[in-house]
Amino acid sequence: MSARFGGSVVLVAGGTGGLGKAVTTAFLEEGASVAVSYRNQAEWESFENSQSANAARLQGHVVDVTDEAAATQLIEKTFSKHGRLDVMVNTIGGHAGGLKLWEMETKVFEQMLSLNLRSGYALSRAAVRTMFKQGRGAIVNVAAKAAFDHAAGASAYAASKAAAVAMLDSLAAEVKGTGVRVNTILPSIIDTEANRKAMPKADFAKWPKPHDIARVILFLCSDDAKVIHGAAIPVYGDS
Ligand SMILES: NC(=O)c1ccc[n+]([C@@H]2O[C@H](COP(=O)([O-])OP(=O)(O)OC[C@H]3O[C@@H](n4cnc5c(N)ncnc54)[C@H](OP(=O)(O)O)[C@@H]3O)[C@@H](O)[C@H]2O)c1
Repeated sequence: MSARFGGSVVLVAGGTGGLGKAVTTAFLEEGASVAVSYRNQAEWESFENSQSANAARLQGHVVDVTDEAAATQLIEKTFSKHGRLDVMVNTIGGHAGGLKLWEMETKVFEQMLSLNLRSGYALSRAAVRTMFKQGRGAIVNVAAKAAFDHAAGASAYAASKAAAVAMLDSLAAEVKGTGVRVNTILPSIIDTEANRKAMPKADFAKWPKPHDIARVILFLCSDDAKVIHGAAIPVYGDS
């Protein structure tokens, strides 16, 4: 096992999701202690059981991270348990599409903002405050290609992801010189179980795999990427 993250403490928000599982697994394999937020107990138990070799370094917390107080508590709990928080990766998000702006229910617009923007807001806010105490840290927020590629039928999704990119870009300018680095990644379609079910006739070979995107995230959080700050990195592969 490579120990690039040996002794590091990592929080993966949404760690039971299609991408979150791959990110959590990759950090565990590289020696980190990983705290994961989740909501679905069955998903968590199945994931925890799959990680038996590294289970001692994995903890799960049921948290709705769109609730700012709960997100703050999760970060503070992780910091006080380990005395440090080196990395925070936010993989929480949701997709809604297919309806034009005037056809969509307003609650869908609110949901997109909540999942794709407010989650990163609440988590980044708490994470930077904690990371300032140690003078270092890396944050990666997962947005989407749709932040720049504004297709019809995706107004709420595209707007929420674009706002998330802008927020992290501005945050990166704010934390310059503090030792905290902030970056965004932009997936297109990821080869997840959920996408295969939703689009059974698609050519899955073209879709980037969660573990390949996880490798980019780990690189961004590693010292090898110490000069990368305020970037929004496309991870589209051939799609
Ligand atoms: N999949 C794609 O093709 C694709 C494309 C572009 C961008 N992205 C972005 O990439 C990221 C990961 O995507 P994914 O496919 O891995 O998503 P996913 O499988 O739906 O996973 C999302 C995770 O976030 C959790 N979550 C959702 N709402 C939450 C909340 N309010 N509080 C706490 N946890 C919550 C989910 O837990 P529960 O299951 O318990 O709700 C799940 O663990 C997202 O930001 C997504 O928008 C994905």
